[in-house]
Amino acid sequence: MKPAWNRREWLKSVGAFAAGTALATPALERIMKGPLSDQPAFPPLKRPLRGVVAGAGNRGNTYARYSLKFPSDLAIVGVAEPIPLRRNRFARKHTIDSRYQFTTWEEIFKVPKFADVVIITTPDNLHYGPAMAALKMGYDILLEKPIAQTWQQCTDIMNLATEKKRIVAICHVLRYAPFFRKVKEVVASGLLGRLVSIQLMEPVEHIHMSHSFVRGNWRNSVESNPMLLAKSCHDLDLLTWLIGKPCRRVSSFGSLTWFTRANAPEGSTARCTDGCTAEKECPYSALKIYYQRRTWLHHFDLPEEGDQGPTILELLKTGPYGRCVYRCDNDVVDHQVVMLEFDDAITAAFSMEAHTSYGGRRIRIMGSMGDLVGDEDELVATNFKTNQVIRSTAKEFASITSGHGGGDYGLLHDFLVAVSEQNPKHLVTTVQEAMESHLIGFRAEESRREGKIVTVRA
Ligand SMILES: NC(=O)c1ccc[n+]([C@@H]2O[C@H](COP(=O)([O-])OP(=O)(O)OC[C@H]3O[C@@H](n4cnc5c(N)ncnc54)[C@H](O)[C@@H]3O)[C@@H](O)[C@H]2O)c1
Repeated sequence: MKPAWNRREWLKSVGAFAAGTALATPALERIMKGPLSDQPAFPPLKRPLRGVVAGAGNRGNTYARYSLKFPSDLAIVGVAEPIPLRRNRFARKHTIDSRYQFTTWEEIFKVPKFADVVIITTPDNLHYGPAMAALKMGYDILLEKPIAQTWQQCTDIMNLATEKKRIVAICHVLRYAPFFRKVKEVVASGLLGRLVSIQLMEPVEHIHMSHSFVRGNWRNSVESNPMLLAKSCHDLDLLTWLIGKPCRRVSSFGSLTWFTRANAPEGSTARCTDGCTAEKECPYSALKIYYQRRTWLHHFDLPEEGDQGPTILELLKTGPYGRCVYRCDNDVVDHQVVMLEFDDAITAAFSMEAHTSYGGRRIRIMGSMGDLVGDEDELVATNFKTNQVIRSTAKEFASITSGHGGGDYGLLHDFLVAVSEQNPKHLVTTVQEAMESHLIGFRAEESRREGKIVTVRA
């Protein structure tokens, strides 16, 4: 696992050489309460870019909806999607010519280049193939995280992007969320003094865990990815971005403790719809989550606008989401901790926790002259010199107009500007940027599996 990208360029881009020195140190209160210094204005592009979506599922539709809101920026002109209902629905919404409606991603690259960008929102195990094919044909790419399933594949994609001079944005949408941009601004201002350590927690929320990582698409680390890459690569990315220095060593512990056959209650059945006698008491009852509460339905293909299609109950009887959470083919961990040591003795502790009643992120930043505590809504800074405590909320410093706290559209907008100007500097999450956190993710998994401290960089 030899890192191959230009580390100096990466450090420059995350601001490691500037932090705490060049800034004019405005008062902490002004930074905490003021608008974001780089609030996206969504100015229209010179001409709309043409995009083709590989994988018209949840994320593909999220990004494609941007084109309906900002048609002067983006027009969706092609789609590849094996599920006919999804493909047809998507093609109808975006009025896609039948010549550019494909069944699988490979077909996009069998016809001459017909768009400016490829938006890759296929499952995790289908990122490498379309990314490499798109780069070979000269497309710029918006690529969902994680980049790919192995460090070698990530390196191949980055090297080909560099060789072909193409722009590859990785969807680390949290770097675009106003809350984390504000955190970054405060840390970079130097007003907390020297950065000493960070604690970051990702409470996944127990129903979210059961939906995505027990019953759903990311339940199996071989078919998809280990949890640290499938879900928490965002968190490792936030840590590398905020700290802006090389990570030296990692250690990690974690396992799948609860969602296993050993914990199946007496009277439980293969599906919640099979007459399970524990269903009424079970927090993971599919009947309660999907049918009664009508929540977590975004991976269900339900009829809309007069379409014919299966009902929720029918899908629970046959599809993955009706399965007992204790009787699935899942292997990804439900709790994991990662300890990280960065340059200048900065440390970070990350925790991914499935067993929580709440989601989002919790962060604590410890500086030599102050600290910062946040929960993705409220942010509280304390200045040790003055004992001043300043509170602000995400609503005060930014308007939030899309998912991931406003990150989804912010990222897509910057990607389109970068492509339009053919200048990756407009982006904060290029593939080159994302390599560091992916390297840490692969190394931390090695540590967890093999029970040892692993050197990320000697
Ligand atoms: N950035 C984020 O915060 C974030 C959030 C959720 C998911 N993701 C990532 O986005 C990607 C997609 O996730 P999703 O929730 O949209 O999943 P999804 O299952 O809803 O969508 C994936 C789509 O790809 C289609 N597909 C499968 N094989 C294909 C093929 N050969 N060619 C073309 N399409 C194919 C599937 O049928 C499906 O419709 C994953 O890599 C996931 O990890 C990122």
